Amino acid sequence: MRKQIAAANWKMNLTYQQGEALLDEILADGIQLAEHQLAIFAVPYPYLLMTRSEVEHENNFSVAAQNCHHKKSGAYTGEISAEMLHSLGVPYCVIGHSERREYFAESNSMLAEKVNICLENYITPIFCCGEPLEIREAGTQNDFVAEQLKESLFHLPAEKVKDIIIAYEPIWAIGTGKTASTAQAQEMHAHLRSIIAGKYGSSIADQVSILYGGSVKAGNAAELFASPDVDGGLVGGASLVPADFIAIIRALK
Ligand code: 13P
Repeated sequence: MRKQIAAANWKMNLTYQQGEALLDEILADGIQLAEHQLAIFAVPYPYLLMTRSEVEHENNFSVAAQNCHHKKSGAYTGEISAEMLHSLGVPYCVIGHSERREYFAESNSMLAEKVNICLENYITPIFCCGEPLEIREAGTQNDFVAEQLKESLFHLPAEKVKDIIIAYEPIWAIGTGKTASTAQAQEMHAHLRSIIAGKYGSSIADQVSILYGGSVKAGNAAELFASPDVDGGLVGGASLVPADFIAIIRALK
C-alpha cells in the first residue's frame, strides 16, 4: 500500500513555545502508526530542530520545511537553501504552496528548480498544486493542474517521481471552511494519477501519495481519506488544535 500521510502545515502561526506544547500534546496521545502511515509537521524554519528532536523517537513521525530557495547558495539575504535543510536533518519540504505562488510570485518553472534542488539534497518535496475559484467555475481545473505537474515535475525520471508527495489543494477550499466534496477530491486525485500514469506508467503512478488539502477537519477527514485515490491530507488550521490533528492522523487508512 502506498504511504498514507497526515501533514500539518503550521504556516506562519504559533510561537516556539506554543509549537513545542502542541507537539507535546499530540505525541502524548501515543498514536501508533502502521508501517504505511506517516505524520509530518511542516513548521517554521526556526522550529525545525526542536520538531525534529520531538519526533525522532516516534515511529513514522517526521518534520518538513514549508519552503526553500531555488538556488544552491549565494547572495540571497534571508533565504534558506535545501542544503541547509539537509544539514539539519530535514527530510521533507513543502514546495509550491498556493500562498507562495500567490504572494511570492513562484512560477511553475521556479518550482521545477526547487524540486530539483530538494532532490539533489535528499529532501522529498511535498509538491502542491490546485486551481483558483475562477478556474473551477470555468470547469478547466483538470487542465490547470495538469499544467502545474507537467511544468514542475515531468522533467524528472520515473525513479524520482515515484517518491514525490503531491498535495492537491484547491485554492477556494483553503482556510475558507469550504471543503471540496469527497467526489470532487476523488475525481481530481484520480485525474492527477492518470496524468502521472500517462507519462510514467501506472506502476509508478500507483506509488505516488496524493494528499488533499483545503479545510480538512477532524469531522471530514475520515470520509475524504476513504476515497481510493486520497492518500491523506495537508492540513492548515486544524493542525493547530491538538485534538483535531490527532483525530486527523487517526483517520488515515
Ligand atoms: P486549511 O486546512 O486551513 O484550509 O489550509 C490548507 C492548507 O493550505 C494546507 O497547506
